[in-house]
Amino acid sequence: MESIKVFCPATIANISCGFDVLGVALDAVGDEMVVRKTKQKGIRITKLEGQDLPMETLQNVAGVAGLALLTASDYDGGFDIEIYKKIKAGSGIGSSAASSTGAVWAMNALLGKPFSTLELVKFAMEGERLASGVAHADNVAPALYGGFTLVRSYQPLDIIEIPSPQDLYATVIHPQIEVKTSDSRKILKTTLSLEDGIKQWGNLGGLVAGLFKEDYALIGRSLEDHIVEPIRSILIPGFDAIKAVSIENGALGCGISGSGPSIFSFSKGKNTAEKVGLSMREVYDKIGIDYDVHISKINVEGIKVIA
Ligand code: HSE
Repeated sequence: MESIKVFCPATIANISCGFDVLGVALDAVGDEMVVRKTKQKGIRITKLEGQDLPMETLQNVAGVAGLALLTASDYDGGFDIEIYKKIKAGSGIGSSAASSTGAVWAMNALLGKPFSTLELVKFAMEGERLASGVAHADNVAPALYGGFTLVRSYQPLDIIEIPSPQDLYATVIHPQIEVKTSDSRKILKTTLSLEDGIKQWGNLGGLVAGLFKEDYALIGRSLEDHIVEPIRSILIPGFDAIKAVSIENGALGCGISGSGPSIFSFSKGKNTAEKVGLSMREVYDKIGIDYDVHISKINVEGIKVIA
């Protein structure tokens, strides 16, 4: 195989109480990439459509993640990459992670899969380092493994795959403003109170248990974030109103997707997820903010070959 086309899913990470550790892959929105083996060494971004992003290899997350894989491999050639962005940069649904994971996943496939998924996570994290200054894994892990993933530890890197309840749907609304992950990380406090810590790890344990047990009520009451959301939500217009209408319309819970400005809700069943989407739209229609809405089942496969 000399060339491959892949779908690279959007991801929600953080999920409320799981700051920097818990994420999930979506299937209704994602980028597409074509990766080709070349005799010429190195990585080249030969096409980039849909977003105004750098094409220089060392300035592009797919280029940097790809180079990390290439350096670790014994392959003597290189790769050309075409990127078709459908996920807007700075939207909070893993735009950079989609590009960096798509690149390393496709290259690994073209090389006969010499690297494990965990190794691919490490290569893709180099793309996240370029995008936000921090090599976090909460977006790249679910894009590569599919479903929900927990980063139990960063040193050593330990990723736990978590099952996805059958009827769980995500509704994501993306107000058309850009919030840079690097900026929304700078405003966070670097210490927390024991009281907040106790609430946060109680909820994270509850959320993981709820996902394993397919206990939707437990998932819902665990979708709380006492540490990051109170600070970051100030950057997102209408956040409190969106959260309130989501819950009123049957969502299990609602929070900031990644570093924002997207807001996500989880619901049991597609009908509820759509109703929640309508209620979210009404809030932004009233305020007069442009937005995109995505209603998505959980993507349990992660990256997929599409040609
Ligand atoms: N966990 C990261 C953050 C993800 O919230 O800063 C950013 O997409």
